[in-house]
Amino acid sequence: MYTHRQTTYYIIDVYIMMISFLPKIAYSICFILSCFLFDHHAYFVNGKKFPIPLNCLRYECPSYDIIQTNMKEGFEIRKYNSAAWASTRLISSTSFILAANQAFLTLFNYTQGANDRARKFNLTAPVLIDVYTPTPPSSTRISSYVIYFYLPRKYQKRPPLSNKVSIVKLPPHEYAAVRRTSSAFLNQTNTAYEVSSLRNSLRGTSWVGAVTAPAAPLTAASYNAPFELKDRVNEVIIWFDV
Ligand SMILES: *[C@@H]1O[C@H](CO)[C@@H](O)[C@H](O)[C@H]1NC(C)=O
Ligand SMILES: *[C@@H]1O[C@H](CO)[C@@H](O)[C@H](O)[C@H]1NC(C)=O
Ligand SMILES: *[C@@H]1O[C@H](CO)[C@@H](O)[C@H](O)[C@H]1NC(C)=O
Repeated sequence: MYTHRQTTYYIIDVYIMMISFLPKIAYSICFILSCFLFDHHAYFVNGKKFPIPLNCLRYECPSYDIIQTNMKEGFEIRKYNSAAWASTRLISSTSFILAANQAFLTLFNYTQGANDRARKFNLTAPVLIDVYTPTPPSSTRISSYVIYFYLPRKYQKRPPLSNKVSIVKLPPHEYAAVRRTSSAFLNQTNTAYEVSSLRNSLRGTSWVGAVTAPAAPLTAASYNAPFELKDRVNEVIIWFDV
């Protein structure tokens, strides 16, 4: 039997338990709400799909439909909805990481008010990185890079302008074959490796268009800012038509 004092402790215990669950409950509610607010429906088509990057709960991410997820081969076929993205100019560099960081700063400035309407807006994810390697490979090892920032829905119709960025429509092709990479930080070597692994895993499937798609550029999608060290998510993409 509980004494009055024990009952009080019991109530306090229950109270503490409830408080400790609150963040989880709040998180679940936010998560469910975010499905409606941020058009994440595409990520919930079936049980077998790549886990949603944490930054897509925090930031807006472009929406897509999953056509097929092949967990055994580790790829996903997606259909992205057409959307406006801000892109940097072609950047020539010997280093993937330097080029990506330089581009990130340009795009970050653009989101922080360096645009014709002095608009500040949140980051989005992912940043797309196109890598054009010279053919034949040159001894200088200089590649060219174009980096793309997905515009928040609010600015899709009338994007803020800047002479540092161009506004483009993506995707370039109807389908995307996607592989989630194991590397937390992408560089030219592991990006090229992941793209060729993706291409190999698509051989013998019905996605022949992805296998025969042009080898250039290599496309990577990075869901984190360069300074984020935890929970990093990267993907490589082959755009193709059928
Ligand atoms: C970003 O903006 C700052 C100040 O607004 C400027 O000094 C810097 O050069 C800009 N960087 C890039 C990469 O545009
Ligand atoms: C920007 O992100 C924060 C949370 O990270 C959110 O509270 C805010 O509403 C967002 N702003 C816009 C304009 O989406
Ligand atoms: C690229 O990243 C991999 C790890 O994913 C690392 O082993 C390799 O040394 C890096 N290469 C360059 C050129 O930085």
